[in-house]
Amino acid sequence: MSWKIKRHSMKETDLTNEESLFFLGNGYIGVRGNFEETYGEAIGTIRGTYLNAFHDVIDIPYGEKLFAFPDNQQKMLNVMDSQTIHVYLGEEKEHFSMTEGEVLDYTRTLHMDEGRMVREIHWKSPLGREIKVQFERLVSFVHRELFLINMTLTPMNFSESITVVSVLNGDVENYVNPDDPRVAAGEAKRLHVETLDATDECGFVRSRAENSGLEAASLTYHNTQEGKLIDLQQEDVLKRIVFTYQWQGEEGKVIDLSKRNIYVDTLRHKEDLFQNAYRLKDQLDTVEDEQLFASQHKYLTRFWQHADVEVEGDEALQEALRFNLYHLLQSVGRDKHSNISAKGLSGEGYEGHYFWDTEIYMFPVFLMTAPELAKQLLIYRYSILEHAKARAIEMGHGQGALFPWRTISGSECSSYFPAGTAQYHISADIAYSYIQYYHATGDLQFMNDYGAELLIETARLWIDIGHFREDGKFAIDDVTGPDEYTAIVNNNYYTNAMAKHNLNWANEMIQILRQEDSARFQQVEDRLNLREEELESFCIAAEAMFLPYDQERGINPQDDTFLNKAVWNFEQTPKEHYPLLLNYHPLTLYRYQVCKQADTVLAHFLLEDEADEATIRNSFDYYERVTTHDSSLSSCVFSMMAARVGELDKAYHYFQETARLDLDNTHGNTKDGLHLANMGGTWMAMVFGFAGLRIKADGLHLSPQLPEQWERFSFHLHYKGQLIEATVTKDDCLIRLVEEGEPVSLVVNEEVYHLTYDQELRVPH
Ligand code: BGC
Repeated sequence: MSWKIKRHSMKETDLTNEESLFFLGNGYIGVRGNFEETYGEAIGTIRGTYLNAFHDVIDIPYGEKLFAFPDNQQKMLNVMDSQTIHVYLGEEKEHFSMTEGEVLDYTRTLHMDEGRMVREIHWKSPLGREIKVQFERLVSFVHRELFLINMTLTPMNFSESITVVSVLNGDVENYVNPDDPRVAAGEAKRLHVETLDATDECGFVRSRAENSGLEAASLTYHNTQEGKLIDLQQEDVLKRIVFTYQWQGEEGKVIDLSKRNIYVDTLRHKEDLFQNAYRLKDQLDTVEDEQLFASQHKYLTRFWQHADVEVEGDEALQEALRFNLYHLLQSVGRDKHSNISAKGLSGEGYEGHYFWDTEIYMFPVFLMTAPELAKQLLIYRYSILEHAKARAIEMGHGQGALFPWRTISGSECSSYFPAGTAQYHISADIAYSYIQYYHATGDLQFMNDYGAELLIETARLWIDIGHFREDGKFAIDDVTGPDEYTAIVNNNYYTNAMAKHNLNWANEMIQILRQEDSARFQQVEDRLNLREEELESFCIAAEAMFLPYDQERGINPQDDTFLNKAVWNFEQTPKEHYPLLLNYHPLTLYRYQVCKQADTVLAHFLLEDEADEATIRNSFDYYERVTTHDSSLSSCVFSMMAARVGELDKAYHYFQETARLDLDNTHGNTKDGLHLANMGGTWMAMVFGFAGLRIKADGLHLSPQLPEQWERFSFHLHYKGQLIEATVTKDDCLIRLVEEGEPVSLVVNEEVYHLTYDQELRVPH
């Protein structure tokens, strides 16, 4: 049951959200769950198909442009639309439309175990013709460029002609909303058709992005048993290709049309796109639809074997857990050009940009469930390292790498620097993910080839931006932490603690790599011109790093001035004023103790050994009172930390908010795309929260707890090449190695255990 998401609603507001919920993707292509038959203005819609990282470059308009403000930004483009299929019945050519006639039955189902989406409608036309219409979709995990729609029609009470018009449309544009800073304000039309071609029952459209010059193309063709192509039109003015098929319908007899759409683009497909698309078509011609569905199913089966989380005792949560994991899998980029945008490939919110969301909220999920995908995410960051180094120079630093706050192809895309570029912590966040990767995999080859350089270049940034105060402390001034309701502050606890970790591990990793294979690592040292004094400076700065502490309250202040500000007047703030960012000028928010999201509390999760128990506890209580969770990146952190401080009920409450955020549209903007960081946060709240997972230098730690609402829960973890399964029940935690292999040491409730394949471990609570 909880492998399927089902919906029956025809309500307009539900439908735009459902377009996001039912999107299909494979990390390369993303197709929103739009209706094939299209409704024009009759039903609100955001029609979209995206290719990860496929973008245009647009100018950023400024009233006052200051030094080193980015001139332009990248924007993910909506590409050729191949979703449209119209069905016409009988002589009168009655158009199938769910807003006319009578919908006798309607369901759409996302099959998360099989990787397909099915929409089934039993419809009665205004003239009384009854027909069953089924659209089954697949965006292939096995054949990266393929989006398939398989349509079946069953006339229920008539035997007359049926005409189907299928369209490949190049005349597309992006969605804009000038009133919401979380979506694009303008520049809707950036992709222009260059070639249309209709030959041999195939349609081909190639388009070019206005400024970036990137090109994308789609090749569309159909397979059908008995239908006849009666017309193929290349409509140059309307920029589309229109295919018309016809059948002699017979009552009770199923008609089948399979529409295959192959997407290619010049980021990945270097030679001619036309030839490329046809080459892929030739390959796919040897594969039947059934085989495509079967290979998709097989891919998903393997994924779930390694990633599934089961919870007994709560069906709605079980559904949400799988739903969130499934969409992460559909959104994660699988090549060096792409990453996971804030909305995945499900919508246009945040213009397809990649943020720190990846490293802190999504990377950990892949690291523990599909490490090869996690590695790919690290490679993407490495591929934009040169941009980050150039940006550091541009920002006045003599050295180091400053990663962009938001980007697609590597340059800074944020025009509002107080909550953008100033979030220097992103560089330490990326470094943190490299370190976690090392702890979880022990992959020294990777650290030699990529990791060390990234750790060194980010460490160099901290040396440059920080300074030693008179009291000998190393301070970092004028940055913004994760909480975007507080900006440009000195010594943000989160940033300083993460920078300290970055500096320490740059040094540590160098020592490990030297020891492992000094000759091999020497090449990296030479290339980076690494000097001994530099290493020393990393250690000295880390050691002297200032981590603000407030004696009186026993907490880490968020920064040097946070606690001096007045507390926001929460009692007088009307409900409809949330999220505050849509109702108050940023300066108003900056003047108060009010947090959009977890900041110090998040630092205490990521680096728990930096603070003592009492400080972690006190900080949780303190910041909880001033945090609005206006950002969807917040409640999962509070869930994890509530579990950490032993408040299981609270952890459960925050977890519920997190898990069903998109399914229940609780932030009101699911139509613009899913909240991918929160989806990662759901898995994290479960595994890092309730099961107490931590990945540290000294190994894998668990400290499991079971919320009283559940009977038990279980999950999988990849660790140092082994697959571990853990089941938490009311009495104990059962841990076993799923596959035969080397024994693993792990720490459960602070005691060390050795796990072998033939002996499962049972640790009582
Ligand atoms: C959050 C950021 C996040 C961004 C993209 C903002 O609302 O405050 O932390 O990176 O959304 O998800």
